[in-house]
Amino acid sequence: MTRKKKTETVVESKPEQETQEKTEEATVNVGPILPSELPDIDVEEIEGVGRVTAQKLRQHGYTTVKDVAFASVKELAEVVGSEDRALNIIKAAQKLLGLRPFISALELYEKRRSIKRISTGVKSLDELLGGGIETRAITEFVGEFGAGKTQLCHQLSVMVQLPEDKGGLSAKAMYIDTEGTFRPERIMQIAKYRGLDPKEALKNILYARAYNSDHLMLLVEEAKKIVEKENIRLVVIDSIIAHFRAEYPGRENLAERQQKLNQLISMLLRIADLHNVAVVVTNQVIAQPDVFFGNPLKPAGGHVLAHGATYRVWLRKGKENIRIAKIFDSPMHPEREITFKITDHGCVD
Ligand code: GTP
Ligand code: MG
Repeated sequence: MTRKKKTETVVESKPEQETQEKTEEATVNVGPILPSELPDIDVEEIEGVGRVTAQKLRQHGYTTVKDVAFASVKELAEVVGSEDRALNIIKAAQKLLGLRPFISALELYEKRRSIKRISTGVKSLDELLGGGIETRAITEFVGEFGAGKTQLCHQLSVMVQLPEDKGGLSAKAMYIDTEGTFRPERIMQIAKYRGLDPKEALKNILYARAYNSDHLMLLVEEAKKIVEKENIRLVVIDSIIAHFRAEYPGRENLAERQQKLNQLISMLLRIADLHNVAVVVTNQVIAQPDVFFGNPLKPAGGHVLAHGATYRVWLRKGKENIRIAKIFDSPMHPEREITFKITDHGCVD
């Protein structure tokens, strides 16, 4: 299965740092091609960066050359004073890491093989997704209230902790909650059912409540700094859209809102790609009053979210505790629907 829409960060590093992943088949050794495989070099090593600038960079979360090499010029200009200076520093950082603008398709193939999957704990949903949710991608769950978005976020926060043979990545989760609907008790229930120690499972989830959209952006900035250090392989944002909709109502604010949302999604894509983590976001549906035929509901967030999310899953309520899931907006996936149940054990087939 190929991911759609995502812009691949095209990198390769110095040949002497060959830390190839063990693979079943013999492959041509192309060296480390994932940003997360690049070495951590202090920002002070970058040509043209002195002690004072290095200090400033660190204060803003750019601790390694890698952070600088993949920064946007605009972003970095706020730290170093001008866009020209920022561009020069970024170029110097890329040079230091031995990055090239192009890689071969074989390298890309190798890079794609580094994508890992986290099982949702629901077989049919995993099948629909091609084996679970992917690292280095953003998966979006969209649906009406009670559709099961938050439940799936809870479930994945537990699933990522399981060993690989049980569908996880033996890693931690980060949970950014904008609506105050995270329930530790629910995590404990799900963890117990999945054979984990409930308290340990809670310890392995780093939780933050985001009080407004600016706060949310700050938290994601913060996330960038700690995902690798803390062995986090799943970053959840439940919901990505709620604050934006509340703070920027009406058409007159739409452009500004979308610009900010775009910035947030770029940050998330970068985290996913640089650190090989899975990002899961939830989204709401809005009514289209002018639609008389077909589905009168559509996902909020417009084109920005539609292009940013790598996979989009639409969730619907069925009878009682039955939920229906469908992947939409994807040329690669069949328009098939699957069902699952929300029980005391979490989401199950
Ligand atoms: P909004 O955030 O309101 O848009 O909805 P959502 O899509 O996040 O819905 P959510 O995931 O919160 O699903 C809520 C549904 O999950 C409820 O209607 C319950 O049926 C079910 N649910 C939540 N907690 C439990 C629980 O502890 N046990 C069981 N059996 N079901 C639960
Ligand atoms: Mg919810």
